[in-house]
Amino acid sequence: MATPGLRELAAARGLWVGACVAARPLADDPEYGEALRRECNLLTPENDMKWGPIHPTRERYDFSRADAIVQFAAAHGMAVHGHTLAWHNQNPEWLAPAADSRAGAIGILREHIAAVAGRYAERVDVWDVVNEAVAGDGTLRGTLWLERIGPDYLEIAFRAAAAAAPRARLVYNDFGAEPTNAKADGIYQLLRRLLDVGVPLHGVGFQCHLTDKGVDLESFARNLERFAGLGLELYVTEMDVRLPLGTPGQTSALGTPLPATPESLGHQAAIYGGVLETCLAFPTFRAFQTWGIADRYSWIPRRFAGTGAALPLDDQYHPKPAYAALHERLAAA
Ligand code: G3I
Repeated sequence: MATPGLRELAAARGLWVGACVAARPLADDPEYGEALRRECNLLTPENDMKWGPIHPTRERYDFSRADAIVQFAAAHGMAVHGHTLAWHNQNPEWLAPAADSRAGAIGILREHIAAVAGRYAERVDVWDVVNEAVAGDGTLRGTLWLERIGPDYLEIAFRAAAAAAPRARLVYNDFGAEPTNAKADGIYQLLRRLLDVGVPLHGVGFQCHLTDKGVDLESFARNLERFAGLGLELYVTEMDVRLPLGTPGQTSALGTPLPATPESLGHQAAIYGGVLETCLAFPTFRAFQTWGIADRYSWIPRRFAGTGAALPLDDQYHPKPAYAALHERLAAA
């Protein structure tokens, strides 16, 4: 009997497991689609549902790439995690000048959410409604939305998403808030206030973009505990664990960074396994996603030079020790 992929093991536990996906390799690289089909029952469009790609001019939406991803997911029995309806990054150039007053900005935000979340109301199961709204010190990040609308932009976005996509789970998503630090405290207070005034908010996403330092799992567990205590579902939304490739500055004779070592891959596996195992202890844990299915298309080497090998499959789609660690945790009774 063939070894089950991660999705089969996750489904047996009533969980989603998945990865972010880009429309271009989905169209060009058959092995990419095959790996996604085998391992994932949940997909997140990496960029194609963000404001810039999906709403390139004031009057025009471009749903072509998002549609392709949603259709691929539907054809293969996968759920979709939409990303994202309000963020400070990857916004189209027309947005800042057009959102020139509070009323104008609210109108644009509501219209966009109605159009995008509305289009996928039957197809997108989870939405990152607001992404990365909190700064490192726990205060609201200074974004276009905060500046033009004020702190109630979050409430406006969640209510608009609930109206457009009443069946979707609505999530707040952020990075660097896995342990109980100042940012996590700020997010906790923010989400508690939103829930107190009846905002339709169902879950919290921990991105888990980690380095080889990993995360303090005891602190992560305490943090999950308090968010679960608010009645929120828990999501790991974007995990990767970037490894230094060789000694910094050291390269192969060809000038490329040196590969990860068996030791560093083993260490990475322990980090992946620890995060998943910590989450599995919570009954409201819903989904475990990595930011890419394989190292081939990971954002990490472009963003953090000299690091990479951050995902559970390598750039040839071969499973790494991290994959085995996830498999083992999902298979455990
Ligand atoms: O689409 C253009 C393409 O036309 C052009 O040829 C190319 C040349 O550089 O750029 C392409 O756009 C890039 C896009 O990725 C698609 O590859 C953007 O420049 C680049 O900025 C963008 O980076 C994305 C990044 O978000 C932007 O902030 C990464 O792919 C994506 O992985 C990353 O994802 C974020 C999550 O949304 C939120 N959490 C953090 C995570 C990692 O930063």
